[in-house]
This record gives sequence, structure tokens and C-alpha cells, in this order.
Amino acid sequence: MLNQENLQKVDTLLKKYPEKKAALLPILWIAQEQEGWISQEMMKYVGDLVGVPYSHVMGVVTFYTMYNDKKLGKYHIEVCTNVSCLLRGSDKILSTVEKVCGTKLGSTSPDGKFTISEVECMGACGGAPMLAIGENYHEHLTPATTEQLLTSLK
Ligand code: FES
Repeated sequence: MLNQENLQKVDTLLKKYPEKKAALLPILWIAQEQEGWISQEMMKYVGDLVGVPYSHVMGVVTFYTMYNDKKLGKYHIEVCTNVSCLLRGSDKILSTVEKVCGTKLGSTSPDGKFTISEVECMGACGGAPMLAIGENYHEHLTPATTEQLLTSLK
């Protein structure tokens, strides 16, 4: 299921850890980078690679918000709604995101472009309220700048 290039990365990683299972998180990250998400089949496959049961891998994937167990839209919009962002109006940012993307929190827009998720603090409280699109942070947002940002992706 992992391509040859990624299997080589896994080989390199496994040499760095005293036990295979300790490499579970970075291998899941490699799998997600390859596929865009982590399917049940991939969870079983990665579990076999590191010698842990599927249930353990699923527990890890569903615990950490950085892993996706569902296919995402082209743009994954992660809106922080934790304390600092909430106090600075993340509720208005989230409702703007839903309006502009044409879908609700936890869903993907009908055109497959946007998936909206709510996340805990992303360590950018100084720029609250903020959201991330993929690996890019967008901070000091207002409903107007949020609308502008998302409209530019349409
Ligand atoms: S509370 Fe939103 S980045 Fe910290």
C-alpha cells in the first residue's frame, strides 16, 4: 500500500527506533502524505508493518486531529476554537467559513473543495483567531479577511 519511495522512508525510520511500534506516528504521517487520508486498510497495513493490532492504530488515528480517517476535500480548513481564539471571535470565523465554503463543520462541500474541521489550540494564540489550510496558518482573522481568503481558493 505504501509506494516504494515511502517504504524506503519507513525502512530508514525503523532503524532509528529500538522498537518498531515506536515508529507508528511518523509512519502514519507518511501514509497520510501519500494518500491524503488514512483508510482502514492502511491502518491494518501500517499496524502489520510495526507489529501492533489494527485497534491500536485506529485508536491513534482517531485520537490525534492531525490524522484524517476520512477523505478530505481539496482544502482542509481547520478552525481553532480553543480559548484564545474563542475569546477573539472564532465563532464568527467558523460561521463565515461554513457560509463561504457552503458546508457545515465536519463535512466536505458538495464540490469536493472544502472540508471544515474544528481543532484545539494550534500554538498560534498570539495570532488569534486563526485557522489552518493544510500546513499554512492564517492569523488575526476577521470575518471579512476570512471570506476574502476562502473566496480566493474557489
Ligand atoms: S487557542 Fe487558537 S491557536 Fe491557541
